[in-house]
Amino acid sequence: MTKITKICCIGAGYVGGPTMAMIAKKCPHIKVTVVDLNEQRIAAWNDADVENIPVYEPGLSAVVAEARNRNLFFSTDVEGAIDEAEMIFISVNTPTKTYGAGKGQAADLKWIELCARQIARVAKNNKIIVEKSTLPVRTASAIKDILTHTGNGSQFQILSNPEFLAEGTAVEDLDAPDRVLIGGDTTPEGRAAVQALVDVYANWIPKERILTTNVWSSELSKLTANAFLAQRVSSINSLTELCEKTEADIKEVARAIGTDSRIGPKFLKASVGFGGSCFQKDILNLVYIARSYGLQEVADYWEQVIIMNDHQKKRFANQMIRELYNTVNGKKISFLGWAFKKDTNDTRESAAIYVADHLLHEQAHIIVYDPKVLEGQIYFDLDYLATRTPEENKKGVNVVTDPYEACKGAHAIAVLTEWDEFKDYDWQRIYDSMLKPAKIFDGRNLLDAEKLRAIGFQVKAIGTNI
Ligand code: NAD
Ligand code: UGA
Repeated sequence: MTKITKICCIGAGYVGGPTMAMIAKKCPHIKVTVVDLNEQRIAAWNDADVENIPVYEPGLSAVVAEARNRNLFFSTDVEGAIDEAEMIFISVNTPTKTYGAGKGQAADLKWIELCARQIARVAKNNKIIVEKSTLPVRTASAIKDILTHTGNGSQFQILSNPEFLAEGTAVEDLDAPDRVLIGGDTTPEGRAAVQALVDVYANWIPKERILTTNVWSSELSKLTANAFLAQRVSSINSLTELCEKTEADIKEVARAIGTDSRIGPKFLKASVGFGGSCFQKDILNLVYIARSYGLQEVADYWEQVIIMNDHQKKRFANQMIRELYNTVNGKKISFLGWAFKKDTNDTRESAAIYVADHLLHEQAHIIVYDPKVLEGQIYFDLDYLATRTPEENKKGVNVVTDPYEACKGAHAIAVLTEWDEFKDYDWQRIYDSMLKPAKIFDGRNLLDAEKLRAIGFQVKAIGTNI
């Protein structure tokens, strides 16, 4: 039986960093080394002030502080860490391809393959390789193919162990996950490798929550889980438009259907559209895989989730323009929130980016305040779209660190992220400082619309016209 004493994780991002910190915290007998090519990122993970680690997650700095330099290490020495580990997690990015075949849909597995080739080059003894990144079903066979041709006789077992944590709640999700999923070969060696990983998690997770399957079911379950979750958001969002036409209220509808135990109350919050690095990428990947097997109806079914989400973002921006008398040219619009959800500094695929882009087309002037997202990231996100020059983005968008300053003199406020602090602002003070009529577009149904209307605001919230 393989007893794991040294783990390496390739990729110190939003998944690699927190997951390995939790393993190190819960398994003081295992040395965990997280490696990355990005020197800046590793330096930030090693920053003497633990509050400066590169991923903002409630509770994460305490977990890192407890284990760092005890049995948790962050390093750029990728080869050294691969060499000494018995188990190697691959937790690198798997973005949507931006070129060639499958452009805009397929997952770009370049970084996964680079990892496999590096492991093949460096490994001198048997190792268990764990796919932590989200991957297309059957990727394990490609990794295996690369690893079995190293020529040095080392044996590799490939496991799939997808991560289900959500950003903003990563620490609680890792501490008490609904389940851990481990897929492996059904051969005796495969089963032993699965058991070795089960034993790592069993240090803090009840055995009945550790599910084991074959590799392919595990790989496909991750894409499926994200597709189902995103589908719920698109489903509820699709009804917001109908609510706005019919005087139904989406919050009441969500509560009414969510109390049915077969439907359940979670993931029914209407919004300006889902964001995040994974929902869109994973569904596009699912669509691509289905198409590549000739399954058109399956592909079309899931693609609709993305189409509805794009529609929701555009619809929100268009509603703002309409309510601002069909022109936002030169108007000052304050964005409260830029992150794709609260309690994270991650902005990947955030709805705010697309709403801003749409309004900038119409020559609005946007002022952004987000409690955790830095100015440079906001310009990076807009420049990445390549819709206009960086100079034009700088001219059209200002980033401030004070919400009251953001709203001063504004024609309208748009709530793009559901940060709790927005609820507690002095809204009378904000109202007094704005141009009249002072308008609020609440893309998260976060604020107390009645209270705001009593102050004098004109409020438009998602999925209600009341
Ligand atoms: P990320 O971009 O934050 O981090 C990936 C890191 O891998 C980067 O720091 C990059 O420099 C590093 N890297 C890439 N190639 C490397 C190589 N060859 N050697 C060393 N380092 C290398 O990405 P992430 O958000 O952590 O996501 C990683 C994977 O986990 C993706 O497949 C994603 O779909 C999946 N996932 C993400 C989340 C999430 O909440 N972000 C949740 C579940 C699953
Ligand atoms: C999601 C999944 O929830 C995780 O299980 C998964 O591991 C992860 O993707 C991944 O693979 O990356 P995450 O994207 O971090 O996690 O955050 P979610 O809480 O799922 O929110 C995603 C987006 O949907 C956010 O923009 C959020 O605001 C939006 N959302 C979520 C809604 O608009 N309404 C809801 O009811 C729920």
